[in-house]
Amino acid sequence: MNAEPCTYVIFGATGNLSRIKLMPALYHLDVAKQLPEGTRIVAVGRRPWDQQKWLAEVRDMIQTKVKADFDESVFQSFSQRLYYHQADIQKPEDYKALADLLNGKQPFSRNIAFYLSISPSDFGTVLEQLSVNQLFDEELGWRRVIIEKPFGYDLDSAQALQKRISHYLSEEQIYRIDHYLGKGMVQNVLVFRFANVMLEPLWNRNYIDHIQITHSEEIGIDSRGDYYNGAGALRDMLQSHLLQLLTLVAMEPPVSMEAEALRDEKVKVLKSIRPIPKEAVHAHAHRGQYAAGTSKGEKVKGYLQEDNIPADSVTETYASMKLYIDNWRWRGVPFYMRTGKRMAKAQSTISICFRHPPLQFFRGTNVNCMSPNWVLLGIQPDECIKIEMTVKEPGLEMDTRSTTLDASFRNHDEKAIDAYEDLLLDVLKGDRSLFLRFDEVEHAWRIVDPILQTWAVERDYIATYPAGSWGPEDSRLFDKDSQFWRSSL
Ligand code: BG6
Repeated sequence: MNAEPCTYVIFGATGNLSRIKLMPALYHLDVAKQLPEGTRIVAVGRRPWDQQKWLAEVRDMIQTKVKADFDESVFQSFSQRLYYHQADIQKPEDYKALADLLNGKQPFSRNIAFYLSISPSDFGTVLEQLSVNQLFDEELGWRRVIIEKPFGYDLDSAQALQKRISHYLSEEQIYRIDHYLGKGMVQNVLVFRFANVMLEPLWNRNYIDHIQITHSEEIGIDSRGDYYNGAGALRDMLQSHLLQLLTLVAMEPPVSMEAEALRDEKVKVLKSIRPIPKEAVHAHAHRGQYAAGTSKGEKVKGYLQEDNIPADSVTETYASMKLYIDNWRWRGVPFYMRTGKRMAKAQSTISICFRHPPLQFFRGTNVNCMSPNWVLLGIQPDECIKIEMTVKEPGLEMDTRSTTLDASFRNHDEKAIDAYEDLLLDVLKGDRSLFLRFDEVEHAWRIVDPILQTWAVERDYIATYPAGSWGPEDSRLFDKDSQFWRSSL
């Protein structure tokens, strides 16, 4: 698929996501000569800025992000693509001016991608007004809409949002973004699984004891108190990014790389996940909130002392859960997932623990126990694939030790590509394979909804953990004593 020129119209362009991700990603694509000639970027914002002020802002966004790699001559040509358009998304009259701008003469392409980096509560209004102003008509070029998570707040609100969106757009026009699917190592999970014949015979309940997915962050909630307190870790990370990782690890081989083939297989996994009845929520999920502590050698405040957080908040900053996939491949294999802010280390890892081998061969030797094999998939910050095996120690005795086969895939001179670069380019190509179909979102909500509902009424207690630790004690999630959170790669 080839990338086609388009006008990117970014709603919420002065916000945090645009600042730290979208504008730097578009700049990088320009550096890599991936943005087709004729591509323009229209920032829609409420602030009364002129073009000059916007260019200064974007320069700052990019310099802050790329630091020493900033290239003045590339920025000069990138800035030719940039426009600032002042508009209040709440005011219907402001959309007419936007439509006039986009429908006017050159330089704008007739292909338009609208990026909604705004509060979900504004999605409906913006889409309605774009539709009223005929900006979704595809007579002269394609029209696509990129929608940031969270897609809804729970199952009911996601379905209501979908109903409203589908009033204005066909499914082919909707790009629901989960930026985890744009991460290089996440895509490598598919290649590792389906391009290596050695793994497939082992990738099932006969050989795998359990699977863990960890996403831990050292940072707290920064200035996102308003959003985060209404969301919590389960909605913010588990329902979206971590369940997506689970689908890639667990799915059957798709028949092709086509968007529908890939998404069909992911949905089958989500549908096969055993529902958690409300009375079993305590056995399957755990939540916690960070208290004051130390992070990177500095004293940091607790969640309840952060800006815009009510003193009696029970919003979780840590969530863990156990799931079972009731299909032939995975029956009985627990999938443990956890995520948290202000934890000991920032890392995202998928750890696959294999069953113990029988030990009869070693009877009468010093070997009376042995570590199981692990396959470790480091998503970030270290992108790596490691396999832990047992070998004999050198010497006369029959002693064993663990050794690691390192199948990491990046050479030192190969740069990582930011997830947003990949995904923003896919929109220009019309490739939806790394975007979510609505049924994926819907089934993901079905999985977490009983937990959310239970936690919503249990408002008198939440476990705490010191900032800078590995989270609250939640070992009761594990099925066996031999299972425990693995924090090292
Ligand atoms: C976002 C969440 O979707 O993902 C944030 O809202 C989280 O709370 C972020 O920090 C993590 O993304 P990444 O790419 O930094 O791992």
